[in-house]
Amino acid sequence: MPDRVFIFDTTLRDGEQSPGASLNVHEKVEIARQLERLGVDVIEAGFPISSPGDFNAVQAVSKALRTPTICGLTRARPQDIEVAAEALKGAARPRIHTGLGVSDNHLEYKLKMTREAAMEQGVAAVRHARRFVEDIEYFLEDAGRADPDYLCRVIEAVIEAGATVINIPDTTGYTTPEEFGALISTVMERVPNIGKAVVSVHCHDDLGLAVANALAGVKAGARQVECTINGIGERAGNTSLEEVVMAMRVRRDAFGVETGIVTQEIYKTSRLVSNLTGILVQPNKAIVGANAFAHSSGIHQDGVLKERTTYEIIDPRDVGIPESRILLTARSGRHALQHRLKHLGYDLDETQLDRVYERFLQVADSKKMVHDEDLEVIVADETSSVRISYELLQVQVSCGDRSIPTATVKLKGPGGQVMVDSDHGTGPVDAIYRAVNRVTRVENDLIEFSIQAVTEGIDALAEVTIRIRSGDDIFTGRGSHSDICVASARAYLHALNRLIESREEFGVTAAVGEP
Ligand code: KIV
Ligand code: ZN
Repeated sequence: MPDRVFIFDTTLRDGEQSPGASLNVHEKVEIARQLERLGVDVIEAGFPISSPGDFNAVQAVSKALRTPTICGLTRARPQDIEVAAEALKGAARPRIHTGLGVSDNHLEYKLKMTREAAMEQGVAAVRHARRFVEDIEYFLEDAGRADPDYLCRVIEAVIEAGATVINIPDTTGYTTPEEFGALISTVMERVPNIGKAVVSVHCHDDLGLAVANALAGVKAGARQVECTINGIGERAGNTSLEEVVMAMRVRRDAFGVETGIVTQEIYKTSRLVSNLTGILVQPNKAIVGANAFAHSSGIHQDGVLKERTTYEIIDPRDVGIPESRILLTARSGRHALQHRLKHLGYDLDETQLDRVYERFLQVADSKKMVHDEDLEVIVADETSSVRISYELLQVQVSCGDRSIPTATVKLKGPGGQVMVDSDHGTGPVDAIYRAVNRVTRVENDLIEFSIQAVTEGIDALAEVTIRIRSGDDIFTGRGSHSDICVASARAYLHALNRLIESREEFGVTAAVGEP
């Protein structure tokens, strides 16, 4: 029987550290529920002391889910651990993830501590965490650049103090697969009590080696992999869950391990995370990219039509990629829509279904046939849990060669009042955003704007993703429509509503140092 590798998902913690990926509590719970369906073993739901938003998210996820272990990150400090323990109180299986840097670089420049002092602080943190939970994971930050002798001594000491999982991160994404595999082998061979803990690998993608390094760690004996959906995370991101899981599954002959992941849920999870974080998946991304199963050269198409396995090593159905079928038209009723949505995995309540149906009819009116991909963006748009302070009632634009781009918007404000204003700009989108600003008066800068067609064809829905900055915070907005100006206006209001919601709920985010 192959060994089991545990999948530790940190999309909601390390993944959410991607610039602009901030999610509200409802969105985090929605992602956590999907991660549960995906079959992950551990969900790292946040860093509770870092902000009220993270605390609330860890608390809400702990209460909402029963199957996976729920984990909260802490620094090796008593107060962090107490706050995490409080947030994890409702969890069926709580885990505290604490730790400290181990490389000389981190000790000298970041922590300004000696090796011995850091080891003592780590041991004390584990002992403190033991007062609240039994499952304690210890991270040795920047292990990839640390002295292996010191690393082994710290690991032995924290296991002795009660750590049950040892996380060996390549925090800076510096190592090569050979080096990282050798580091894990060293730990397995040299730490006398390593058999009392599960060894975990946490790799970053700065050199594009995160998945390869994690797999090298598994080959050397690691039995937990830390990863994120779509590989999102700090800087270049983390090990991508879908890639590492499918590598272990497709090449079971090479790795000799298995995971508990329900691979048919991968695509849906990837879309959900991309929709809610606003971080688009690159088309050539392995497993979940739009082109991952597209064959464009004639020779390849011919081969695949004769026998799929000539150019495909994964059956797209195994990762839940829906066969692109055109099913619905303006004549499809509410029931047919509900049935198709269920098939795609969306279980909407009556109010959500009403909104989606209304939007579906509008789309079906302008587009003859509604694809599954269209339904996905409609659902994302209409079921967003962001509180709506300003609603777009109407947008009208005049633009073109030799005219001054001018926009008029009609918005419904927080008290239900209807407001109309107009402005001009360098282009139609600029004019719309200026007109909206005249009504909402929320200061921000637009820092990113992207637009893509949801499906092929001239009548395709446009999906606009934007990011706005307000102070140090970045907010993402998404909107779709067959008219790119309307999609742009919707995306802007989505981002503005997020900004307003976050200001009202939490005030200014607390600044917390390492990790
Ligand atoms: O990359 C890293 O070292 C981390 C730790 C906090 C686990 O994310
Ligand atoms: Zn990390």
